[in-house]
Amino acid sequence: KRLVVLVSGSGTNLQALLDAIAALGAEAYGAEIVAVGADREGIEGLARAERAGVPTFVRKVKDYGTREEWDAALAEAVAAYEPDLVVSAGFMKIVGKEFLARFGGRFVNTHPALLPSFPGAHGVRDALAYGAKVTGCTVHFVDDGVDTGPIIAQGVVEIRDEDDESALHERIKEVERRLLVEVVGRLARNGYRIEGRKVVIQ
Ligand code: GRF
Repeated sequence: KRLVVLVSGSGTNLQALLDAIAALGAEAYGAEIVAVGADREGIEGLARAERAGVPTFVRKVKDYGTREEWDAALAEAVAAYEPDLVVSAGFMKIVGKEFLARFGGRFVNTHPALLPSFPGAHGVRDALAYGAKVTGCTVHFVDDGVDTGPIIAQGVVEIRDEDDESALHERIKEVERRLLVEVVGRLARNGYRIEGRKVVIQ
């Protein structure tokens, strides 16, 4: 299967996918990364793709007149690589109608909290501020809400008294990287159906 991965930051989730595919071979893993896209330049995520010899593209919101035009341009750039699955791995933008019309049902996101708790851009900080005792990560399909799509898998992380946002986020990301690699591989190898809110991996 063909994967396009979207990033906005350090790209350690992308790296985990690249490493798993390099270690197992694309055939055994079930997928290869055919391109990495971003909404900004100069990020480590793009450098990781370049080091791995994977083509990259950047579509910045500010280069387009409207958010809709940006969304259509992003969808077009992704579509050029004919992906079976698109993975948002720390991609910090909400996509729009056009993108979802083309990739809905095959657009996977990873979120650093146990959805439906703590959606949005600050899932780690919000769980900590709330005083939750456990949090974690959620791999889910993207729908037209913010972190509301059908859940594929979750991993649990305990919150410690001494945690700050960055220490907690690091422990979540360790679980998140393993979960994302496992889930994307299973989706790619086995195929899946989405039945309402339920994701059935065949
Ligand atoms: C992940 O925790 C992701 O869920 C969140 O941002 C982080 C991205 O990390 N939204 P990286 O860029 O993959 O290192």
